[in-house]
Amino acid sequence: MIDLTTTLNKLHFKTPLMNAAGVHCATTTELDDLLDSQAGGLVTKSATLQPRTGNPDPRYANLPFGSINSMGLPNQGLDYYLNYANATALTHPDFPILLSLAGQSLAENLQMLERIQASAFSGLTELNLSCPNVPGKPQIGYDFDQMKTILTAVFQTFNQPLGIKLPPYFDLAQFDLVADILNQFPLAFINTINSVGNGLFINLETETTVIKPKGGFGGIGGSYVKPVALANVRAFRQRLNPAIQIIGTGGVVSGGDLFELILCGADVVQIGTTLAQEGTPAFGRILTELERIMAQKGYATLADFRGNLKTL
Ligand code: DOR
Repeated sequence: MIDLTTTLNKLHFKTPLMNAAGVHCATTTELDDLLDSQAGGLVTKSATLQPRTGNPDPRYANLPFGSINSMGLPNQGLDYYLNYANATALTHPDFPILLSLAGQSLAENLQMLERIQASAFSGLTELNLSCPNVPGKPQIGYDFDQMKTILTAVFQTFNQPLGIKLPPYFDLAQFDLVADILNQFPLAFINTINSVGNGLFINLETETTVIKPKGGFGGIGGSYVKPVALANVRAFRQRLNPAIQIIGTGGVVSGGDLFELILCGADVVQIGTTLAQEGTPAFGRILTELERIMAQKGYATLADFRGNLKTL
């Protein structure tokens, strides 16, 4: 009998797989689909204080090995997701809920955190420091001083479990610097990686970009980014305080991909592009594939192989 359960900051997940913020989680209908799926938890679309319409269409495209998006944070506003989370906690008390926030200023983030803290919310909060798609707004996760300033202010205000969504890093010196900052704060978790920002995909026949915003530049997800996701989970697991847990996100298409992210140290794993392409049946498919791999290898629990990557 294979046990797929995991925990994130004391919340119990019946399976280690959930949606990535932004995918299939913008409306109550989509969120209800997640509740009815094999997902072990859910995260709501990154919210701003006020609703946003986001960038002009077309703003998402499927690619041969993944996706490109420049959604620009279209969302219904914090209250919509907070109300959903608090109502769902009553009907589904055992289903872990994460609220994702993407305020466009420190003040906006602090205001949203105060509102969450003043409510009955008992889930986890994820602060998105890595959206690549708002014109004129650099990714905070690449500005280490700003990241430290934000975390300092946030932890002065907020005393509930909080994690952050990070952009991918590509240099070992960056992992050292970022981990050094993050280890100074009582973070519940990090989520790594967001999409690989500002890629470009071209339609060879028409010689055009495939999405409209920002001249075609957009966040890349799917199989293209799996090696980057594995590296980020592994590098942070090697550097962060053990108390900071890791959500691994990026390029999970199969049970093997899910296994590899856990092998690098992920406590929970999220799917974005695959969920966008296949819908919620993707959870059951990938989890069945994981169970088969675990059975073949003789593993009964995720803890049997989590973080146990071997090197040559
Ligand atoms: O790829 C992404 N797209 N990452 C984010 O953090 C936000 C999202 C969007 O709305 O553009």
